[in-house]
Amino acid sequence: MEEEVIKIRELCCTYNTHIALEKVNLDVKKGEFIAVMGPNGGGKTTLLRAIAGMIKPLKGYVKVKGNISYMPQRENINFRIPVKVKDVVMMSIISKTKKFSIVSKIKNEEINSVYWALKVVDMDDYMNKPFTELSGGQQQRVLLARAIATNPDILLLDEPFNGVDLPTQEKIIKILKDLSKKGTTIITVVHNVSPLIHYISRIALLNKKLVAYGKPEEVLTPENTTKVYGIPIPTSVCEEGYIHPLFGDIHG
Ligand SMILES: Nc1ncnc2c1ncn2[C@@H]1O[C@H](COP(=O)(O)OP(=O)(O)OP(=O)(O)O)[C@@H](O)[C@H]1O
Ligand SMILES: [Mg+2]
Repeated sequence: MEEEVIKIRELCCTYNTHIALEKVNLDVKKGEFIAVMGPNGGGKTTLLRAIAGMIKPLKGYVKVKGNISYMPQRENINFRIPVKVKDVVMMSIISKTKKFSIVSKIKNEEINSVYWALKVVDMDDYMNKPFTELSGGQQQRVLLARAIATNPDILLLDEPFNGVDLPTQEKIIKILKDLSKKGTTIITVVHNVSPLIHYISRIALLNKKLVAYGKPEEVLTPENTTKVYGIPIPTSVCEEGYIHPLFGDIHG
């Protein structure tokens, strides 16, 4: 049996008095590809932040094995100073490797990782541009480059397809598929799981509590989707036997 790399027990997270996560229990095995779904305000970003160790739980715990990269939801980041694209990516490498050193001499291999990661997302031509001058989708790609540049064991992504065009979405999916094949554990928040349905191992359906966690066909039942979204999400089964949520056809 594959080892667990994330173990979450009775996790409760709050912002002041507001409860964002309540008694969440979740295990993730090495190399799994997990989609986290749920309504706006359902606690998805909070869950990723708790896994990344960015917020302290009120109760319960998160145990993690391996190094983690976190790609934030684009709406939640704000670079006030004009940082160059290559520096946005480099920042992740420096913060991971140079945490305790005062003198930080950047090595060639680190510059290579930055270049490699930007090339993977097709943004190497924009290395010297200010990050704030990029379009939304281009910023999203740079944030993905930043997340993969450190070669993480566990990759956390918050809505990576938000605002990106369809060819870029395909490209990101291919990157994730390749990383997943190489054994990277991936947890991604998505509103529409259809483009990933062939690659994910499990779906976590979250609305403050973990309402369901398992294979897509076990999780995306009318009962579960009604519980979290207030309406059932219709699904169909494709020829290969995969279940597909029909998100664009909710009222059809
Ligand atoms: N910094 C904060 N201060 C106070 N409340 C917060 C903060 N961040 C999130 N919340 C609240 O916690 C709850 C969960 O928020 P979270 O961002 O985790 O939801 P989400 O599932 O990621 O939503 P979305 O789909 O809109 O991104 C929401 O009710 C939100 O209002
Ligand atoms: Mg969110």
